[in-house]
Amino acid sequence: MTTYSIAVLPGDGIGKEVMPEALKVLKRVGQLCGIGFAFRHFDWSCETWLKTGRMMPDDGMAQLAQNDAILLGAVGYPGVPDHLSLWGMLLKIRREFDQYVNLRPVRLLPGIPCPLAGKKPGDVDFWIVRENVEGEYSQIGGRFAEGTPAEGVAQTAIFTRLGTDRILRYAFELARGLGRPHVTSATKSNGLFHSMPYWDERFAAIGRDYPDVRTDQYHIDILAARFVMSPERFDVVVGSNLFGDILSDLGPGMTGTIAVAPSANINPEKAYPSMFEPVHGSAPDIYGQAIANPIGQIWAAAMMLDHLGEAEAGGMILRALSAVLERADAPRTPDMGGSAKTADLGEAIAAALPAS
Ligand code: NAD
Ligand code: IPM
Ligand code: MN
Repeated sequence: MTTYSIAVLPGDGIGKEVMPEALKVLKRVGQLCGIGFAFRHFDWSCETWLKTGRMMPDDGMAQLAQNDAILLGAVGYPGVPDHLSLWGMLLKIRREFDQYVNLRPVRLLPGIPCPLAGKKPGDVDFWIVRENVEGEYSQIGGRFAEGTPAEGVAQTAIFTRLGTDRILRYAFELARGLGRPHVTSATKSNGLFHSMPYWDERFAAIGRDYPDVRTDQYHIDILAARFVMSPERFDVVVGSNLFGDILSDLGPGMTGTIAVAPSANINPEKAYPSMFEPVHGSAPDIYGQAIANPIGQIWAAAMMLDHLGEAEAGGMILRALSAVLERADAPRTPDMGGSAKTADLGEAIAAALPAS
C-alpha cells in the first residue's frame, strides 16, 4: 500500500471548519482504494502571528518540504494585516516551492442554482490556468517622497520570459490533454504599456508550437463580460497572477457559490510539494457557526489525489459529491440555499462513496 505524507494546514477561520470534512472523505476513499495517508497537522495561522510575530516557525518550509503534498484551508484573519499574513504563509509557500501553476476548474455542479439564466451543468465548465508566482504580485516598489505633497507609491509587476512561457505552455498542454484544444488568453495590452504587450507576444510565440490548438485573447474587461454572457465558449483560460485571481472568483460566482471551487498550486516538475486549497478565504463573517460549505476543500483534496497519481480515488470523490448534490434532500449549506451544517454535507459526501 502506498502511504502519502500530507501536511495539513487548516489555517484561519473556516479553514478550521472545512478541513475536517476533507480529511473524513480522504480517509474513507483511502480505505476503499488501499491508499494510506500520514497526516501531519500544523496549526500555523494568524494566531501564531499574534503570539510570535510570524506565521510559521523558522524551519517551517523545511518541515513542509518533507511531505508529498500540502492541504491548506485558508489564510488571513482580521487583526493581522492581510499582506503580512498572506506573504508570511500562503504566498510564501507558493513562491518558495515554485508552485507556478494555479489550476482552478470552473464547473456548474448539479443541484446548485446558477445565477446565469438558463444555464445547466455542462454550460459552465472550463479551466483557469493562473500564473502563481510572479506578475502583479510583487514586493518590489515602495513609498516615495513620504510626507511631502509628492508622496506616492510604486508597485512593480514582473513578467519573466521563463515565468511567462512556462505558464502559457502549461495551458496549451492542458488544452491538448483535455481534448479541448482551445486556449483563451486574458490580456490588457491596451492599457498596461509594458507587461501585457509582452504577455501577448509570448502567447503568440508559444501558440506557434501548438498549431492544433485554437487561440483567442480578450482584454480582461470584456473577458469578464464574456464569462457572464457566454460561458460555453471557454475551455482553458490562461491569465497572469492578478487577472487569474479575479477570474477565478468570477467563474465560481457564476456557478452559484464560490465555496465549491478548488485550487491546485502545482509545481509540475515535482521538485517541491504542491498545495491544494479551496479558492475561498477564511470567511470571518460566518466563522464559528459551522455552516461553511466544505465542497471547495473536499474537491481540492480530490485534485490532490489526481496530482499524486491517484486519479481513480479523486474521481470517486467527484462522483460522490455530484451524487449528493443531485438529491432533492441533499444537505445544503446556506450559501446553496439550505440550512445544513458543514459536517452534514461532509458526512453525506463521505457516505456517498462506494460501500467497498
Ligand atoms: P472569503 O472567500 O473568505 O469570503 C467571501 C464571501 O464568501 C463571504 O461572504 C464568505 O462568507 C463567503 N464564503 C467563503 N467561503 C465560504 C464557504 N466555504 N461556505 C460558505 N460561504 C463562504 O473572502 P474575503 O472575505 O475577501 O477574505 C477573508 C479573509 O480570507 C481575508 O483575510 C483574505 O485575505 C483571506 N483569503 C484567503 C484566501 C486563501 O487562503 N487562499 C483566499 C481568499 C481570501
Ligand atoms: C486566492 C487568494 C489569494 C490570492 C490572496 C488571499 C493573497 O485570493 O488564493 O485566490 O490573491 O492569490
Ligand atoms: Mn482569490
